Amino acid sequence: MDIFEKLKVEQGDLGQHAHLPKDYFMFPKLEGELAPRMQFNGKEVLTWSLNNYLGLGNHPEVRKADADAAAEWGLAYPMGARMMSGNSVYHIELEEKLAEFIDKESVMLLNYGYQGVLSIIDAVVDRKDVIVYDAESHACIVDGVRLHMGKRFVFPHNNIENLEKQLQRAEKIVAETGGGILVITEGVFGMSGNMGKLREIAALKERYEFRLLVDDAHGFGTMGETGAGTGEELGVQDDIDIYFSTFAKSMASIGAFVGGNKQVIDYMRYTVRSQIFAKTLPMPLVIGAIKRLELLQTQPELKGNLWKVVNALQSGLREHGFDLGTTKSPVTPVLFKGGLGEAGNMAMDLRENYNIFCSMVIYPVVPKDVIMLRLIPTAVHTLEDVHETIEAFAAVKEKLDAGTYKREEIIAITK
Ligand SMILES: Cc1ncc(COP(=O)(O)O)c(C=O)c1O
Repeated sequence: MDIFEKLKVEQGDLGQHAHLPKDYFMFPKLEGELAPRMQFNGKEVLTWSLNNYLGLGNHPEVRKADADAAAEWGLAYPMGARMMSGNSVYHIELEEKLAEFIDKESVMLLNYGYQGVLSIIDAVVDRKDVIVYDAESHACIVDGVRLHMGKRFVFPHNNIENLEKQLQRAEKIVAETGGGILVITEGVFGMSGNMGKLREIAALKERYEFRLLVDDAHGFGTMGETGAGTGEELGVQDDIDIYFSTFAKSMASIGAFVGGNKQVIDYMRYTVRSQIFAKTLPMPLVIGAIKRLELLQTQPELKGNLWKVVNALQSGLREHGFDLGTTKSPVTPVLFKGGLGEAGNMAMDLRENYNIFCSMVIYPVVPKDVIMLRLIPTAVHTLEDVHETIEAFAAVKEKLDAGTYKREEIIAITK
């Protein structure tokens, strides 16, 4: 069979929805300045789907630092991979500042979070080792685990009892192979908003020998007294052996980093293939990240505002009877029962008639009969934005309960 023929039949879990209105649910275009109110399909919508947690994306000082660095350096410099010809004093400065902030001996920059995580996992384990990881891990972890040649065991999301069982299985294997155990979880899970049970996992270190890798993409900047992340929040930063986060969320940019003890990070500099065989971060991204980190550290009011909005939104929605699952972070999932058609009609009604833009999360990310509308509050939303949104959600919930959205097709519904 021609492999292209097969692609016409099997479009994949997400590709099967490609027939949905074009550029509407999939690949929508949000236009205008990055802000709570943006343009969608020619009109203004209140936007709740950007991971711009601290509002840094459009902060005047950030915009200026990005623009100045682009004017001074362009996007090309430095050329090549970091190891060959792509290093600079700014790359080193950013790594040192990040290491100090997250309280780790050393940090290595990564040019993308997804490739970074995948490749870190690939670099630190070999076929003798066993990986034990949370079932709701981000795709970059799952794909990193896929590269692993040895055994891997998955534990149900945040189920510590089961994790312990998997550790016991892993121990038996490494006793034979002479390898070690790597446990992987997240600081904040980006869909449910749950925090990883890092305290409980850290406590298991007393009885089992393993190293812990935490992907804190959604926790860095949002959690912890200083914003240093979920390890700081839960008082277990020292127990996180490999701390990862991306610049794609709170830092509102591109790039990522990994921190740990010096010997491990030095090892990674020579073994993480996604960095050795790919171009380094260009200067505007590095200088821009230094500015973002400075603001994150010196303007605690950004995190303060974020949490004001988070608390108002989450308590308001809960008071109105909405199911937000078990979120403990800014990630705000609103869960409903219903099928894909209902989800689409409801999200469309919200966009068309209430001017609320949020992301719709569907199977396979959530079970088949669950609709999740995911809201991401930011430091630049206001309490009026929250109020308007809760009113809109209350109105569409009434329609959902009345069966208004139960249609085969997704169609525009008038208010
Ligand atoms: C938990 C988690 N890990 C890793 C990534 C990937 O990071 P990046 O966008 O820098 O590739 C994301 C999404 O951006 C994420 O949500």
